[in-house]
Amino acid sequence: TDTTVGIVGGGPAGLMLSHLLSLSGIDSVVVDNRPRSEIEHTVRAGILEADSVRLLLDTGVSDRVRRDGDEHDGIALRFGGASHRIDFQYLTGASVWLYPQTDVFIDLADARARDGGDVRFGISGTEVVDVTGSRPGIRFTDADGVEQEIRCSYLVGADGSRSVCRHEVPEQQRTHYFREYPFAWFGILVEAPKSAPELVYTHSSRGFALISQRTESLQRMYFQCDPDTDPADWSDARIWDELQARVAGADGFALQEGPITSRAVLPFRSFVAEPMRHGSMLLAGDAAHTVPPTGAKGLNLALADVRVLAECLERAVLKKDPDALDDYGRRALARVWKSQHFSYWMTTMLHTLPDASDFDVRRQVGELESVVASTAGSTYLAEGYTGWPAR
Ligand code: DHB
Repeated sequence: TDTTVGIVGGGPAGLMLSHLLSLSGIDSVVVDNRPRSEIEHTVRAGILEADSVRLLLDTGVSDRVRRDGDEHDGIALRFGGASHRIDFQYLTGASVWLYPQTDVFIDLADARARDGGDVRFGISGTEVVDVTGSRPGIRFTDADGVEQEIRCSYLVGADGSRSVCRHEVPEQQRTHYFREYPFAWFGILVEAPKSAPELVYTHSSRGFALISQRTESLQRMYFQCDPDTDPADWSDARIWDELQARVAGADGFALQEGPITSRAVLPFRSFVAEPMRHGSMLLAGDAAHTVPPTGAKGLNLALADVRVLAECLERAVLKKDPDALDDYGRRALARVWKSQHFSYWMTTMLHTLPDASDFDVRRQVGELESVVASTAGSTYLAEGYTGWPAR
């Protein structure tokens, strides 16, 4: 097969890129080694920035987010056993939407199928070749066991945090920036009504907890845990005791409990691979960077990457402007590093280090007090959370 843009990875980044390119009349092929049903059933993030929602609506992916998504005008920061609302609408005039990443994926996969896009799920043995040549390629075995090769003008690695494409950039020509954290998130899905109208980000001396939502009857919650935690070691009762203890306070706030239908320990780290371009290959989304989940930037950052990448590829393909691809990394990385800082800041402000002293915990409370008591402080949080404007 010959195409203009070969895309490795059929998650939200790869599919959105393929969708945006097709609107400009540029053909692409997307491959992913996971079957579609596996991607649909992997629990992922839940919060979309206003611009992510606009991208889904304005480019005709689907208006399901408008119907099924839940607009949130703020969050609660909870510390010292009391909740403090950060009012996004008042501070920035913007909101976020609670709309699961799995639904974003379904909308995009359906839109590509509707529009005749070439998307191959469930392939195996993916290899990329000639990434610095004029016709890079993707080799793989398709779902029927037949070996295939796709040749393209541009190759995009949107293949997630365990990217194979990323490793095509020679070691001497790249830098990987890392930050590890001595904790992870324990995530659960719970069949219960909402415990609060908005998301509750909780600091406590026992560690962080996040009370999020999915639907009226299904809730998503997370709590900071040791990275070596085996979810099987935690009974439902132990999970509830820990979560209730972390959110407890003089106001009597308590979580609505129910059957836990899913549990997993999630990876937690900060990572950036630079540059985002090598020859005719471009990296996007988690293939190029990972943020810790606090603040829900990962999916939004991936969508922001491909919005910029689609523009640059349009200039490169349609206007034959060879400099267009150099603009991609420069524009995308500006947002990447702001998001890295925001996610790191939210993480370190709200999580407890295993060796934290009383000083450390009290200093964090001082920081949280100064954020909620200051219009400047809470506006920074609101701007970062709802998303910076596109550039
Ligand atoms: C969710 C995840 C996040 O990392 C976050 O900051 C907010 C919400 C979620 O999955 O609902």
